[in-house]
Amino acid sequence: MVSIKGFVWKESYSVGVSGIDEQHKYFISLLNEAESLAKGKVSGDEAERVVRSLEAYARKHFDTEEKMLESIKYPKLKEHRFAHLELIEKTAIFYDRILLGGIDIKKVADFMEAWFKTHLMTHDHEYAEYIKKYGTVPRKSFFWFLK
Ligand SMILES: [Fe+2]
Repeated sequence: MVSIKGFVWKESYSVGVSGIDEQHKYFISLLNEAESLAKGKVSGDEAERVVRSLEAYARKHFDTEEKMLESIKYPKLKEHRFAHLELIEKTAIFYDRILLGGIDIKKVADFMEAWFKTHLMTHDHEYAEYIKKYGTVPRKSFFWFLK
């Protein structure tokens, strides 16, 4: 289990799929790390490490989530994919700023907090409602791609 400081995981954050919840917990631990770095002076290297971790997380997590949504024939999958693209594009902008020597970790932390509220707690919870209404995630095929 990922250790969480600052932002604390609550059951109300759950989307009802344990593998996805575990990945969301990791996102929260990264958000906490960005926020604690934002409180102190941060070197470019530390900011870059957080952005790199965020990008690696996003690519793996979005792949897992989109395959799961495909498997349940989620009707709003296309819109959900576009929302994911927004975070990937944002990490590219953060990299550009790092290269220019002007990354502000507070901006990264603020973006992550906004993402938590607008994506995880709204878009992801929409599919959670869909799963509750129309069925369950097929466990076997779901865990097959959760590697
Ligand atoms: Fe999502």
